[in-house]
Amino acid sequence: MKTLCCLLVGILAIYGSFAVDRNNFKTCEQSGFCKRLRAQKPEKSQYSLDPKTVAVQGNTLVANVVTVDRETQPPKVLHKYVLKLSAIKDGTFRVEINEAEPLYPRYVPQLALVSAPVTDKLELVSSDDTKVIAANSQGHRVVITVDPLKIEFLDKSGESAVVLNENNQLFVEPLRKRKEAVEDETGQILEEDEEGTWGETFKSHHDSKPRGNEAISLDVSFPDADQAYGIPEHSDKVNLATTTSGEPYRLYNLDVFEYELDSRMAIYAAIPVMYAHGSKRSVGVFWHNSAETWVDVVNYADSNVVSSLVNLVTGGQKRKVDARFMSESGVLDVFVLMGDKPKDVLRQYTALTGAVPLPPKFSLAYHQSRWNYVDENDVASVDEGFDTHDIPADAIWLDIEYTNGKKYFTWDAEKFQHPAEMVSNLTAKGRKLVVIIDPHIKREAGYFLHEDATEKGYYVKNKDGKDYDGWCWPGSSSYLDFMDPRVREYYASLYRYENFAGTSKDVHIWNDMNEPSVFNGPEVTMLKDNRHYKSPEPGQEGISSFWEHRHIHNEYGLFHISATHKGMLERDDKKYRPFILTRSGFAGAQRYAAIWTGDNSAEWGFLAASVPMCLSLAIAGMSFCGSDVGGFFKYPDSELMTRWYQAGAYQPFFRAHSHIETKRREPWLYDAQTLSLIRDANRRRYALLDFWYTLFFEQTRDGLPVFRPLFVEYGDESEVLTIDNQHLLGDKMLVRPVLEKGVSSVQVYLPGARTRTVWYDVDTYQAYPADGYITVDTPISKIPVYQRGGSIIPRKERVRRSSALMAHDPYTLVVALDANNTATGTLYIDDGETYDYKNNKYIYAKLEYTQERMTYTYIDESATYPTGSWVERIVVAGIKTAPRSAKLLQGDSTTSLLMTLHKGNDVLVIRKPAANMAKPWKITFSY
Ligand code: NOJ
Repeated sequence: MKTLCCLLVGILAIYGSFAVDRNNFKTCEQSGFCKRLRAQKPEKSQYSLDPKTVAVQGNTLVANVVTVDRETQPPKVLHKYVLKLSAIKDGTFRVEINEAEPLYPRYVPQLALVSAPVTDKLELVSSDDTKVIAANSQGHRVVITVDPLKIEFLDKSGESAVVLNENNQLFVEPLRKRKEAVEDETGQILEEDEEGTWGETFKSHHDSKPRGNEAISLDVSFPDADQAYGIPEHSDKVNLATTTSGEPYRLYNLDVFEYELDSRMAIYAAIPVMYAHGSKRSVGVFWHNSAETWVDVVNYADSNVVSSLVNLVTGGQKRKVDARFMSESGVLDVFVLMGDKPKDVLRQYTALTGAVPLPPKFSLAYHQSRWNYVDENDVASVDEGFDTHDIPADAIWLDIEYTNGKKYFTWDAEKFQHPAEMVSNLTAKGRKLVVIIDPHIKREAGYFLHEDATEKGYYVKNKDGKDYDGWCWPGSSSYLDFMDPRVREYYASLYRYENFAGTSKDVHIWNDMNEPSVFNGPEVTMLKDNRHYKSPEPGQEGISSFWEHRHIHNEYGLFHISATHKGMLERDDKKYRPFILTRSGFAGAQRYAAIWTGDNSAEWGFLAASVPMCLSLAIAGMSFCGSDVGGFFKYPDSELMTRWYQAGAYQPFFRAHSHIETKRREPWLYDAQTLSLIRDANRRRYALLDFWYTLFFEQTRDGLPVFRPLFVEYGDESEVLTIDNQHLLGDKMLVRPVLEKGVSSVQVYLPGARTRTVWYDVDTYQAYPADGYITVDTPISKIPVYQRGGSIIPRKERVRRSSALMAHDPYTLVVALDANNTATGTLYIDDGETYDYKNNKYIYAKLEYTQERMTYTYIDESATYPTGSWVERIVVAGIKTAPRSAKLLQGDSTTSLLMTLHKGNDVLVIRKPAANMAKPWKITFSY
């Protein structure tokens, strides 16, 4: 039986009329702590550090901080805190402020950091009554002004780069016991806690707030910054907007039905990292907190911010960005990333939270999904359809309807009678199956999972300690408490082949609805006073013996995917790499799963939004990102569908997906032209799969996003700072998808003029010297894509049904020459699915081209892989002087090579060098 919600989704999806129901979601005014904190703008901070208490313990400076009532004389001490400042390896600092003696423990996220941060040497430079100065080993200094407390981080040249509490918005609300209301003899209340301290109501939902107010806030200033980025997930631009006249950015994992565009409302993921970039430097902060968080931003360059005062003082624009983080609970714990180039700051963030692990290769190829492929025949015919129409595809997906009544880890006994056979039919062509597993569990007697969880106490509890009962796809549902290590262990075991019939190493997992989504909960999620497991500590009883959902909310999905990841590893004794797709996200989620932008709509605006949304996620660590190609709700017409495939083919996660009530839209259901254009888009993706794979491999080492905003590479060009309709793949390709309806040309910004960069159109090899904007014709068959001069990109032109079938196919190497007639590239090869690469079974090689020679050498010399791939063609674009002859040297043999020069576009084609990629080789040119 369909839920009411699902029916409504269907009706709306068919008949249009889209809009988020904003009433379901809180504004800052409706969120007690946001309202409370946002209203507090003291002229002078109450916080003050006692310099006499400063001590350096290891690489951490520790000092007492107090809040003082500045109205009294002498100022009365209100509350005591401890400040810790640590130096972290590679230009990062950590600042923690907690109460000296908190009444209850405060929550610190458990999974966001990849490991305990490695410290750097912290030296106390000086300390007196007014200032404490410390330094790390990299030449960054921290100047702490003691009263009021201000912490200023100086870059290597001694300039102010990041300042904490400059705007006096540091607050750590002390935990407290409920005050008994004091009444006079007439019953009038003379003294009691502020309204809302011990409970808040939103719509029909009451939050009992058993610990009372416990919010934290901190302002962060970025002097000289032109733009700020990060704090996904929101549906707006990549550069952050000034929020003074509207809502702050909200970070709270939520299932927002029909989320709207250009909005700072919270949606599925919440990653609290922010970067600030200007001509002087790039810096960042990582707000290590998993509670509901709101972030205000003021960019002084925004026209609505430049106050007359600023104009008066500076005679024009002031370059600075101020931000303010406000969280409902948790310890104040912030990492300051000192940069100073964009790549440094991104690497610093990944060093803390981890890189995307090397994905199985198939997951970088094309995925076909729909809610739902209804039965085994349907799956077989969709699979067949790709072959009939000569479109490569690597995975077919099954949404919730494959289960027996939305009971995960089961199959619909009628529609999916032979899951193992279905899977082996797919794998025979090198294809995979991906099935959905959500975190809610149907409360149905006889369902093993429900019975196990009930019996063992594995569910999240409500405020009264009973199993929490919410509403999701299956109807009445409970939610596994993934914070409990026993639950993770149990859940992981469910993925074992003997427990999940029909699955094999070729079945991968989609974890959806893990914000968590609760249809009848406040803001479509869980009650904040629900209780989660807390590891037992002596002496902690009652309220201290559990975490509330409010403390961990943004980390819930991360615990979920970590359990799935564990299960997928263990089902094969850690032999194969898992692929998981998650909808919710938090810092560190990249270590377990890819992400997509959730329930978008078949509208041009959503296609356009897919670029900035994924760019923001990518710089927050989650490079493996995509959007539902074609749009989830509604039906895309031929033009929109074509443009979406063309864009999706150049986004890291490339999957078509659609809502259950929409018209079917497998590519062959479109007209012949659209079908052929979709085929073309997919084939382009497959031709570049080894390039994508190499980028993802390199990301595991350098921590840089694969899907890159232009400012990461060209941050010294002010024009690029707000460009988010173009993107880079690594540092080698530039893509400007067509995101607008009915256009026959688009403007493309080609960066790198100062370094004489040349960009080559990948369709024509025509060279375009970088010189800002150009206009490019975009007939329906074309989106502008360029290869950077100076790069070499491996391609495989013999596209087959799936990536696995192309494993040993030959390469075409595209050499795009720079102004010095040189180019370099890299290539990573392995078996595409196991962890054998960790035992040196791979090739990581460098390709170098100069006028005299082209070489293929191993970067990791001790690693090898017996690839059957060879070079069938080398295309050299931008050739000025063609060589007369060329010779291939590999091992002991020397072969003369055939070449053709295409004068029209200066392309030299070296035909069939037949060099084997399993060994280094060299080609020499003579003129
Ligand atoms: C919500 C997801 O966002 C969507 O992609 C999926 O089809 C439905 N849940 C049903 O599982």
